[in-house]
Amino acid sequence: MKPTTDSGAKLTPTQIVAELDRYIIGQERAKRAVAIALRNRWRRQNLPPELRDEVAPKNIIMIGPTGVGKTEIARRLARLAQAPFLKVEASKYTEVGYVGRDVESMIRDLMELSVNVVKAEVTETVREKAEQLAEDRLLDLLLPPIRVRGEEPFSSETLEEIAPDASRQATREKLRQQLHAGKLDDRLIELEVKSQAIPMVEIFSSSGMGEMDQNLRDMLSQMLPTKTKRRKLKVAEARRLLAQEEAQKLIDMDEVTAQAIQRLENSGIIFLDELDKVAGRETGVGPDVSREGVQRDLLPIVEGSTVMTKYGMVRTDHVLFIAAGGFHVSKPSDLSPELQGRFPIRVELDPLTRGDFIRILTEPKNALITQYVELLRTEGVELKFAPDAVKAIADIATLVNERTENIGARRLYTIMEKLLDDISFRAPEMPGEEIAIDAEYVNGRLAEVVKDEDLARFIL
Ligand SMILES: Nc1ncnc2c1ncn2[C@@H]1O[C@H](COP(=O)(O)OP(=O)(O)OP(=O)(O)O)[C@@H](O)[C@H]1O
Ligand SMILES: [Mg+2]
Repeated sequence: MKPTTDSGAKLTPTQIVAELDRYIIGQERAKRAVAIALRNRWRRQNLPPELRDEVAPKNIIMIGPTGVGKTEIARRLARLAQAPFLKVEASKYTEVGYVGRDVESMIRDLMELSVNVVKAEVTETVREKAEQLAEDRLLDLLLPPIRVRGEEPFSSETLEEIAPDASRQATREKLRQQLHAGKLDDRLIELEVKSQAIPMVEIFSSSGMGEMDQNLRDMLSQMLPTKTKRRKLKVAEARRLLAQEEAQKLIDMDEVTAQAIQRLENSGIIFLDELDKVAGRETGVGPDVSREGVQRDLLPIVEGSTVMTKYGMVRTDHVLFIAAGGFHVSKPSDLSPELQGRFPIRVELDPLTRGDFIRILTEPKNALITQYVELLRTEGVELKFAPDAVKAIADIATLVNERTENIGARRLYTIMEKLLDDISFRAPEMPGEEIAIDAEYVNGRLAEVVKDEDLARFIL
């Protein structure tokens, strides 16, 4: 089995920032902070073992208004690091004992992700072998082996059709070739398919049993026998299923689990959104009651503890936590002192300016304008955005953000959608057309809405 390659972690901070720059405009301080955090994990990995366990990750709090790139930075970072990454909202957890998700479930979810990633990687390494085995089984089905004490050796439609008088081996090879060429893909074949009787488990899990359902569900599904069922399938489909089954047999699940745990423990990242929503001291009434409780429950996980998952014990000591929040009402200093100490790095993100909007619209690899141009190109419609159109869009975004509510770059989405609403609708009826979008077009489509503040509140 292939060893863990953590290639992303070898990037230097400068390289990490450069990578992030391709997607996120501005926010230099936040990019630097996460780049250092990521690099530190690699540094830690290269320490002598005695020291390695002493080094705690430097967790980060990103503070900034909505829609300025907090989540985006964390998401891109995780992709760079090729690390198990989970995004959760702190506010969805409740104190132990209350109804709802308990905080530890985030580790169980991350473990699930980690297992899936490792499993997918390992499956990839055995894919070729699995496909070969699947092909052999498929050929056996298409051309069953001769029964030893059979009266008739075998007579099938298939055999007759394809090679009326060839030897078995030759026929098999011929079939193999046809299979490769995809010529048999639509033929129907009968196959034993594994199917699990899930209904009962589903009933259990939907009855709001909260947390304990996860483990219970797993236990139940292991207890229930897996039934097999004969099904008629197209060859193409059967081939996929058989390859999956064969891959499953080739994979050593214990090894996968061990590697997944190792990866989670050493490079897992949890993005804890809306941390500000659980900040604030107890007022004693209403929903506030459990805020401190959630903080209290969070603490051991962030500080490092052992969480029981269905794959085994997982230690959280070196999981990196990146928290984010607006912190308009509450401040990081409203968090419990212990928790504050566990998030030593604070970075503020800047509100986005008109200049940023122009760049966000055009510069990132996945820039919004590029997305729309490409989307409509699939219809044969060519959009041409003039520079003054981009400026006009940025102007409107800035204005509406000021007048109604500042939702940062998300404003660009609503504006672009409204701007291109008409073209998006009619595009299939105008293939081959080229449409120039200039400032005049932008203002023509949006000026009315912008002028009317109430209308803007609803539409943009
Ligand atoms: N600085 C930026 N550069 C490029 N795109 C950005 C930037 N800021 C935000 N965006 C885009 O705006 C959208 C919303 O950003 P994101 O999800 O990161 O917001 P957020 O800061 O996490 O806000 P919230 O506090 O509401 O969660 C994303 O699709 C992102 O691509
Ligand atoms: Mg966010």
